Amino acid sequence: MSTERTSEAGRADDNVSPSGAARSAEPPPGSDRRPATTLYITLIAAVAALGGLLFGFDTGVIAGAMLFIVPDFHLGPGEQGLVVSAVTFGALFGALIGGTTSDAIGRRWTNIVAGLSFIAGSILSAVAPNVDALIASRVIIGVAIGLTSVAAPMYIAELSPARNRGKLVSLFQLAVTAGILVSYIVDRSLAPEHAWRWMLGLACIPGSLLVLGMIAMPESPRWLLKTGAEKSARHALSLVRSPDEIDAEVKEIHEDLEHNRPAAWTELLMPGLRPALLVGVGLAVFQQVTGINTIIYYAPQIFQKAGLDSASTALAATIGIGVTNVLSTLIAIWLVDRVGRKPLLLAGLSGMTLSLAALGVAQRFVSTTGIDQQKLGPITVGFIGLYIVCFAFSLGPVVWLMISEIFPTRARARAAAVSTAANWMANFLVSLSFPVLQAMMGSSLWFLYAAMGVAAFIFVVGYVPETKGKSLEDISRQWRTANR
Ligand code: BGC
Repeated sequence: MSTERTSEAGRADDNVSPSGAARSAEPPPGSDRRPATTLYITLIAAVAALGGLLFGFDTGVIAGAMLFIVPDFHLGPGEQGLVVSAVTFGALFGALIGGTTSDAIGRRWTNIVAGLSFIAGSILSAVAPNVDALIASRVIIGVAIGLTSVAAPMYIAELSPARNRGKLVSLFQLAVTAGILVSYIVDRSLAPEHAWRWMLGLACIPGSLLVLGMIAMPESPRWLLKTGAEKSARHALSLVRSPDEIDAEVKEIHEDLEHNRPAAWTELLMPGLRPALLVGVGLAVFQQVTGINTIIYYAPQIFQKAGLDSASTALAATIGIGVTNVLSTLIAIWLVDRVGRKPLLLAGLSGMTLSLAALGVAQRFVSTTGIDQQKLGPITVGFIGLYIVCFAFSLGPVVWLMISEIFPTRARARAAAVSTAANWMANFLVSLSFPVLQAMMGSSLWFLYAAMGVAAFIFVVGYVPETKGKSLEDISRQWRTANR
């Protein structure tokens, strides 16, 4: 399948609105006849996805580590909040910085800097002599997470062929979920020794792999062309495309760069880019306000409250949630280039909304009728499990994927940075407000997240374009046509 054919497919779609369904001339995924380049691009995606592994590990590990940090450092509630939320705060800034560095030093170097920050942050947190040093080290880790959440999906998307881009970028989310699961397991295994310093310090191993791996990888050809380095861009493309695809793809990227010339950050708000930015920011925020991290961060407490009496049963259920999250992400990897992004988003949002509403109804029913409280535990685990399955094949991977592909090359880094920062801001607000809202609203809180699910569904139907099988330049051209 040549790039020319991809472009033709895009051109044929030119008068379709971006919110219309894709009509791609792509052959079915899996029919690739170039095993060497396919293998190499998969390796590139896997190396960049190590940033996702660290993202998941470092956000997940703190829950178990806090059990021992609190008595060691005699932390009050305020300091506890600072240690936990320092990462989210750092990530917000890291995301914004990532937009600038991805343009200035490139996608590859931004990922390397992220890896170095992961190493520095994990070592510092492992040896932190006091709470201030610990908070500072968690901010550094947060900055690394922000950098990687902008630069890794974008780097993978810019190197991937259109036919496999969904699957390859979704490896990033697979790594996030694997990182969360590994953090639960590490916390559990090291808990008997109260070894919180090891829990935090272990992240320097994947951090080092990320740095070493990225040093060996090529730079994004799209960034290289943007900076005028055509020879290097052609070389990078030659590693991941067959020779007959390169000329057409270079030509297409040049055309796209000529048509999109945003000069400054403020240009993101101009009519040309605004609709795409609305989609990026909207998806990023909906990924959080539908409640995923109330479960990822607070699952043991939710389960204990629902009557899973012992702390160890609640922890086992939490590990079950982690495994479900990883396995269900595989559904997206299998389907995202076959059925497309929108059907996955809509199916996932329907399932998430129904599970949340069912959870609210069940909890209210049990508390108002006073029937067997014992039944609430398994019901809660069941509906939360279903919710996780639906998130993991939809909003989880597809949001990071679409943020990496819906913006034109000239504006991609900045627009992805703004969308990613919005994701971290929403994450911060939802996870901060959850305990307070739960105390105020009880089981009705689940209805609030379900209502957000309905709003997200309407947003996807109305505003989100299908990008399956289209080259990044086709997607960019579609926005231009729609804006005319
Ligand atoms: C989200 C994280 C979330 C994780 C759960 C990611 O896509 O951005 O906030 O914790 O998925 O798997």
